[in-house]
Amino acid sequence: MLTDAQLLDAAAQFGTPLYVYDASELDAALSRVQTAFHDARIFYAMKANPNLSLLRRWHTAGVGFECVSLGEIARAIKVGASGHDLLVNGPAKSGEEYRLGFDLGATFIVDRASELELLPPHSKALVRVNPGLDVSTHDHLATGAAISKFGVPMGGVPAVVSALRTAGHDLRGLHVHIGSAIENPDDFTAAFARLSELRPLVGGLEVLDVGGGWGQGADLSGIAAQARHAAAVFGAALWVEPGRALVASAGTLLSQVVGLKSTGRDFVLLDAGMTELLRPMLYGAEHPVRALWTRGGTQVCDLAGPACESGDVLARDVRLPTPLRGDVVALQGAGAYGAAMSSNYLTRPRPAEVLWDGEWRVVRRRESVEEIWAGEE
Ligand SMILES: Cc1ncc(COP(=O)(O)O)c(C=O)c1O
Repeated sequence: MLTDAQLLDAAAQFGTPLYVYDASELDAALSRVQTAFHDARIFYAMKANPNLSLLRRWHTAGVGFECVSLGEIARAIKVGASGHDLLVNGPAKSGEEYRLGFDLGATFIVDRASELELLPPHSKALVRVNPGLDVSTHDHLATGAAISKFGVPMGGVPAVVSALRTAGHDLRGLHVHIGSAIENPDDFTAAFARLSELRPLVGGLEVLDVGGGWGQGADLSGIAAQARHAAAVFGAALWVEPGRALVASAGTLLSQVVGLKSTGRDFVLLDAGMTELLRPMLYGAEHPVRALWTRGGTQVCDLAGPACESGDVLARDVRLPTPLRGDVVALQGAGAYGAAMSSNYLTRPRPAEVLWDGEWRVVRRRESVEEIWAGEE
């Protein structure tokens, strides 16, 4: 873990708000996934953090990519990935995504029956199964519920599989991803059991892709054992698509205290907020907060950002040593869906990102205001 002194050095050198990543933790995270899932093929869900430096690192390590937009496919190509390394996913793929994915030889994740009319001839395909399960995560992160927009409901899967085969596509297997930050491992057990129910209806398969979604501190070995069992039911190779598990713990958002304020609650005002880290506002995510200062006395406060939005609060009821303007806080576990979801709302330039790999390397420079309005008249 990066020390307080290292984090303060980064804040002083590169300014705040700032995303910092620890290369050794990235490597440790990959190794944890590889150890748990043995020889399963890993496709990094790059939506979690698409920074090219991270993608190059994963590509060099033999990891493939799950892409959900033309831009993500372009990033994969940019770091040297080939079609063999690519899954093209998404509930509403564009014509260009089908064309480019097919030309590259990527495998498509088919999300609904009517995609059959849109897939280029002889496409490689997995069928995404909606297992119709309520899972232990925030509603906005659940993707395998019956009311979710994702996947083909269980009852429709055999017909879609058979139609793909009949149409001459290379139907490689099934896919399931029940959501992100899943807290209860039994949810994976239930999802894999539902997949296994399809074995008599769809026959043997080349691939079973069980997605990602593993919550913080999840028992990866336990989930992996069950996933392997489900794959074996189909005689299939196991594929996985972790996002958070590969990058969350390596990333920290550094932000400076701008001031203090008390209304009905006590606030510490920061120079980072929802535009830099949307997760707390979007789905109530909680990031551990580390004060990079020591001072006598502590106080309980909410950490609020600079946006004119009441929801712009990064953490609630945090106990901190008494803060002063200029102190730096570290919001931890911010490597996944942090920088990736940062926005230009309020014409706020997106923060710089730096990687510690024995020395600091800027992997994304701070955006300028001019870059934000460059495409405008
Ligand atoms: C299809 C698919 N696979 C994998 C992931 C990665 O999820 P996580 O970052 O929770 O591992 C996502 C996340 O939304 C996804 O939609």
